[in-house]
Amino acid sequence: MTENKTYIVRVPATTANIGSGFDTLGMSLGLYNVVQFVPAEGTPLVETKIEAEGEGAGQITEGLDNMIIKAMDETAREAGKSIPGGKMYLINRIPFARGLGSSSAAIASGVFLANMLMGEPFNRKEILDITAAMEGHPDNAAPAILGGFCMALLKDGNVTAERIDIPSHWKAVVTIPDFELHTEKARAVLPDSYPRSDAVHNIGAVSFLMAAFMYQKPEYLKLGLDDVIHVPYRLNLIPGASDVIRNAERAGAYGATISGSGPTIIAFAPADRAEKVGIAMVNGFAAAHITSRYLVLDFDHNGIMAV
Ligand code: HSE
Repeated sequence: MTENKTYIVRVPATTANIGSGFDTLGMSLGLYNVVQFVPAEGTPLVETKIEAEGEGAGQITEGLDNMIIKAMDETAREAGKSIPGGKMYLINRIPFARGLGSSSAAIASGVFLANMLMGEPFNRKEILDITAAMEGHPDNAAPAILGGFCMALLKDGNVTAERIDIPSHWKAVVTIPDFELHTEKARAVLPDSYPRSDAVHNIGAVSFLMAAFMYQKPEYLKLGLDDVIHVPYRLNLIPGASDVIRNAERAGAYGATISGSGPTIIAFAPADRAEKVGIAMVNGFAAAHITSRYLVLDFDHNGIMAV
């Protein structure tokens, strides 16, 4: 660690589940938060002063209530070391509690930053293990750290993750409504068990989802996004969501679904139709009296990085 040096970390937004890949699949998007940190020897980590601009800037907490600080603290403990506090500046572009991985981004950036400050005792796989353990599921954590399209499985506290690259001519159109939906609430509406026919349906759907991305076959995407494990239960929590998805498809998207646990809806579309898809999605929310905005995003291929 170098006193007065500014450490800078950039972390991408992520979309989890991708329809049928509940708690397993995720993808990294070209929308980033940036964390700048200047350590000050002698300052306890929990006394770090934090300023922020952008999304949620007025709601930033400090001390262990802040996910970045909490993740730094946890990572230092894991390494058996201590790290000082200092001054932190956040540039937040990932909307909070909208299904675009803001909590994974915060945890991943805290773990990554602490690792840098300690001289990198952990490799990327270990950074992913610490992040996923804190988050509870690895489907946002894996793409936040590895970039690209990821599959990740958490078993006995250990994450197995793999990434594949995705065609660059596809765009992600994320339409973000003006209300928050917390993951706990969106998980609380899900059943504890499912009939075998639902399990079989999703195994089939996720197989075609993989084919759609790996072999660049957009004709399989709608089938691949067709989930029966979480999407039907969550649609009721997002006014207008069914119309937004239908509008996206009618405007030329290959397919659309809830991003993570919502309320954002994500569509995958060719670049030349992306704006039209975004406008149609905003109109779908408007019909349900919900204001929203859309972003046309590229996919991120790098995951979290020092800049
Ligand atoms: N897989 C998680 C869920 C992602 O759908 O609940 C949200 O963090």
